[in-house]
Amino acid sequence: MKEPVCPVDLLPASLINWIDRQLQQAIEIDEREVRRLFHGRNGNISGFSQVVIDWLPNVAVIRLYADFDQLVLQAMVDFLAAKDVIKGVLIQERGRKRDTTFAIAYGEVPNRLVVCEAGLNYQIEPLQFQNFGLFLDMRNGRRWLREHAQGQKVLNLFAYTCAFSVAAIAAGANLVVNVDLSKRALTIGRTNHQLNHLDKACSQFMPYDMLKSWSRIKKPGPYGIVVIDPPSFQPGSFIAEKDYAKVLRRLVQLTTPDAKVMVCHNDPAHSSDFIRALMAQECPEFTYQERLAVPQDFAEADIEKSVKVLIYQRRSSSAAT
Ligand SMILES: C[S@@+](CC[C@H](N)C(=O)[O-])C[C@H]1O[C@@H](n2cnc3c(N)ncnc32)[C@H](O)[C@@H]1O
Repeated sequence: MKEPVCPVDLLPASLINWIDRQLQQAIEIDEREVRRLFHGRNGNISGFSQVVIDWLPNVAVIRLYADFDQLVLQAMVDFLAAKDVIKGVLIQERGRKRDTTFAIAYGEVPNRLVVCEAGLNYQIEPLQFQNFGLFLDMRNGRRWLREHAQGQKVLNLFAYTCAFSVAAIAAGANLVVNVDLSKRALTIGRTNHQLNHLDKACSQFMPYDMLKSWSRIKKPGPYGIVVIDPPSFQPGSFIAEKDYAKVLRRLVQLTTPDAKVMVCHNDPAHSSDFIRALMAQECPEFTYQERLAVPQDFAEADIEKSVKVLIYQRRSSSAAT
């Protein structure tokens, strides 16, 4: 055990116990298993609502969304650094209308890591992307895909680093078409497929603005599963309030008669009614099936502030009549 420098009693016992439990649970699954160690944004621990801590083995990342007491921050760094399993502590500051900054507060933080989620490998760049290359709160979406993708042709819209594609192909999908306008994200996506020794013939990569590329996207279809996981607000590329309907409007042309669609939305200001209303308006051919549970390490008091992952199914023509 390494010696702590700053008094750990600056940290509430509930915080320490929560982090210890999350870390233990992750390590019990796999020594490289990723996990959110602390989701302060849910407000469960007073005074820590601007703090989030992620575990990207063997690095702990403290994210700050607002100014924070420097002594308490140092106590958190020391508490984490004292654990033998933690080899580096990174502080990421974001929001506040300025660029995200990164500072290594302890040990070593490699430019690249390969982490694990449910037995699959993903490349992480902790010092580059705001979200390192993997959205940890989408774990249950990837699990759903692993349960449903076998033998399917899958369209992965807003693919980013293709984590959904990796999950689907690992589960036996015949083909996943990944669309994202970021070439760099898709390059990491290719690496993620290689890291899991997946059959190259099962994945395609389309580095396009999807709002302008529907005929190219449609060509390899029709798709039995479509994943839609856009940003909430990316000016010039996608603004949910104005553009989500444009994507949903295409679903019937893109899918098989009994297709399933995973519709995601990550804006805490919108409830799931935002998606339900759009689906009812743009795709009456699809019926609501279920909302996937939020992973327990991302729990919010108000579920509507969490990521929304809704499953819909297209009515087959016999059911529709
Ligand atoms: C929330 S991330 C997607 C996360 C991803 N589904 C995952 O599971 O990791 C949003 C992605 O949408 C992409 N994007 C935004 N607007 C786009 C557009 N008009 N066409 C294609 N991709 C777009 C961004 O480049 C970014 O990678």
